[in-house]
Amino acid sequence: MTQQSDAQNQTLSNLMHEERRFDPPADLAAQANLTATAYDEAAADRLGFWAKQAERLSWATRWDEVLDWSNPPFAQWFVGGKLNAAYNCVDRHVEAGAGDKVAFHWVGEPEGETRDITYAQLKDEVCQAANALVELGVKTGDRVAIYMPMIPETVVTMLACARIGAPHTVVFGGFSADALASRIEDCDAQVVVTADGGYRRGAASALKPAVDEARTKNSVVRKVLVVRRTGQEVAWDDSVDVWWHDLVAKQSTEHACEFFDAEHPLYVMYTSGTTGKPKGILHTTAGYLVGAAYTHWGVFDLKPETDVYWCTADIGWVTGHSYMVYGPLANQTTSVMYEGTPDSPHQGRWWEIIEQYKVTIFYTAPTAIRTFMKWGDEIPAKYDMSSLRILGSVGEPINPEAYVWYRETIGGSRTPVVDTWWQTETGAIMISPLPGVTSAKPGSAMTPVPGVVADVVDDDGNSVPDGSGGYLVLKEPWPSMLRTLWGDDERFKETYWSRWPGMYFAGDGAKKDEDGDIWVLGRVDDVMNVSGHRLSTTEIESALVSHPKVAEAAVVGATDETTGQAVVAYVILRSAAGDGGPDIVKELRDHVAKEIGAIAKPRQIMIVAELPKTRSGKIMRRLLRDVAENRTVGDVTTLADSTVMDLIKEGAATSTED
Ligand code: WT7
Repeated sequence: MTQQSDAQNQTLSNLMHEERRFDPPADLAAQANLTATAYDEAAADRLGFWAKQAERLSWATRWDEVLDWSNPPFAQWFVGGKLNAAYNCVDRHVEAGAGDKVAFHWVGEPEGETRDITYAQLKDEVCQAANALVELGVKTGDRVAIYMPMIPETVVTMLACARIGAPHTVVFGGFSADALASRIEDCDAQVVVTADGGYRRGAASALKPAVDEARTKNSVVRKVLVVRRTGQEVAWDDSVDVWWHDLVAKQSTEHACEFFDAEHPLYVMYTSGTTGKPKGILHTTAGYLVGAAYTHWGVFDLKPETDVYWCTADIGWVTGHSYMVYGPLANQTTSVMYEGTPDSPHQGRWWEIIEQYKVTIFYTAPTAIRTFMKWGDEIPAKYDMSSLRILGSVGEPINPEAYVWYRETIGGSRTPVVDTWWQTETGAIMISPLPGVTSAKPGSAMTPVPGVVADVVDDDGNSVPDGSGGYLVLKEPWPSMLRTLWGDDERFKETYWSRWPGMYFAGDGAKKDEDGDIWVLGRVDDVMNVSGHRLSTTEIESALVSHPKVAEAAVVGATDETTGQAVVAYVILRSAAGDGGPDIVKELRDHVAKEIGAIAKPRQIMIVAELPKTRSGKIMRRLLRDVAENRTVGDVTTLADSTVMDLIKEGAATSTED
C-alpha cells in the first residue's frame, strides 16, 4: 500500500468519518428496476441470477451452461449460446416496432449542427457499413481498427463490425500515430476506419494524417475507409484509401446477420499496464453484452420509454463502448451523443444540451465535475436541468466535495449520484450504489452490484476487517470479464490472477469502512489516472528515454486538484546534451505527445542530476511523488545514496513548469 498518495489517504480518512448519507428519493425507490431483493437473489444463486440477466438479450440458440470455469482463469459464459450483438442492439428493436424511436440525438460541436438517428435509420446504416466492410475484404474474425471522432459513423462502424463478427479495436482519437501503429500491429488490423478529422475546442482537428503516418510504420493496413466530417484537405492514396460516402452509401440496406458463438470475440480495447506495452483487453460477445445491458438498466434505473440518457465519455474508451454503445442500445435507449468539448463555444454547453434534450440520466467523470466547479455555479444556474433524475460518476475516485456539488448544483439536490467503479478489464460496472436502494455516502462506491463478488484483502489475500484497507479483488468470475490479453495468455494470468489463487487482482487499493462499504483509493501499481484516463509510468518513461538527449527518466503521478493525478517526470540528460538547451522542457513534452498522445504530456518535467534508487537499483517513485506534491520527503534510509534527494529537491525548486 506504500504507493498510494498519503494526501489522498488523509483526505479520505477524514471524510469517511463524516456522517453524511443520501437516501434514494421515495418515488424512485418505489419503482426502481433493481431492488434490495436482487442482492439476496444473486447471493442465493449467482449463476441463476446471471442467467436471468441474459434473458434480456435475444438468442438465436439458447446456452447449455451458464459458466464453464473448469480451466481458470479462462472463463466461458453462456456456453453453446448463439447471438449477434448488432442484432441485439438494433434490429430487434425495429422488429419490435420501435423503428421510429430515436437512438441518438447527435450534437456536433459547431452550434446548430445536429442529427437525430432513429433505430430504423441506424439499422439501415449498420447494414450498409457491414456490406461495405465485406466488400473491402473483411471476414469474420478479422480485426478492424477505428480511429474516429464522436460522430454517428463511429457507432455505425462498431456495430457493423459486430454484425459480421470482425472484432473492432477503437483507438482514442487523441492518441498519436505511433500509438495507433502499435495497436494496429499488435492485433493485425488490416482495415482502418477513420475520418478526415473532427471538431474539438472550436476548431477542426485532423485524424487521417495520423493514419497515413501509422501506415508508414508497418505494412499491416490494406484499406482505409474515410468519413468526410470537416472537409479539410487530406492526402490520398488510391490503392488504399476509400471514401465512406463513395463506398457505404451505395450499399444495400439489407444484410442478413449471422449468429455467432457466445464466446466469439467482440472487441479488443488497449489500455495501459505497468510495462511499456499496452494490453489488448479482449471482450467476447454474450457475457460482455449481458454485463453492459444489465448494469446500464440496473445502475441507472433505465426506463427506455421515458429516459433520455447521456454519457459524456469518448467512444475511444471503454466507458464509451459499454455505456454509450452496447449497454444503452441493447436496452433500446434514447441517448445524446456530443462531438466536442464542454467549453465550446461557451462553458455552459453541456447544461444547454441537457436543457434542450431534457436529459434524465447523466454520466460523467470527476475531473469534468471539478472543472465545472472551478468555472463557477453561475454557469449551470442559467439552465433548466429539472429533467435530471440520476447522475453517475466514473473513472477515478470522486472526492466528497465534488460529489456534493454535483448532486446539489447539477442535480438540484434531488438526484442520487451513482459512483461507479469498474475497469476496461471488467467490461461493466462492478461496484456502485443502486439509485433506488442504497443510502449513499459521498466518496464511496459502496457495494458490489448484485451478481458481483468483491472484497478488500491484505498482502496474504485474507479479507480485511471492516475499518481497514488493502487491495481490491473480485472473488468470482462475472460475465463481462476480460477473457485474456490479445495474443498473451501468460501476461493475462500473471497480471490479474497470479497474486492470490482464484482472485482477480484489480490493481486498486481500497478501504472498507465501519459499515463494510468500499472506498476505492486509486492504483497500487505503476499506473496513473489522469482525468480518468489510464496512463502507464513505464510507457511515458520509455517515451522520454527514446529522446536522443535523455539518459534516464522517472515518472510519477502527483495529486492534481482538477485532473486527479498529473504526470510529473524527472529526467537525467545525456552528458553530450549539456543542459539540453533553453527549450528542453517543451521539446520533451512535445516528444511524449508525439510518441503517445497529448494526454500523456507531463505537467511538469524536472531536469535532475540523479534519481533516488534503492540498493538494488529500483527507482523510489514514492520519494519523487513526495517532491512533486511538495510534501516533506519520506523515509530515505533505504536509498543507496540518501543525499540524492537533496539534489532532487534543489532541482525541483528551479525546474521549469508550463
Ligand atoms: C481504473 C480503471 C471504467 C471506466 C473508466 C476507466 C479507476 C474507475 C472509479 C471509481 C475510483 C475508479 C480505478 C480503476 N476508477 N472508476 N468510481 N472510483 N476509481 O477505465 O481506464 O480501465 O481505468 O480507473 O483505478 O482501476 P480504465
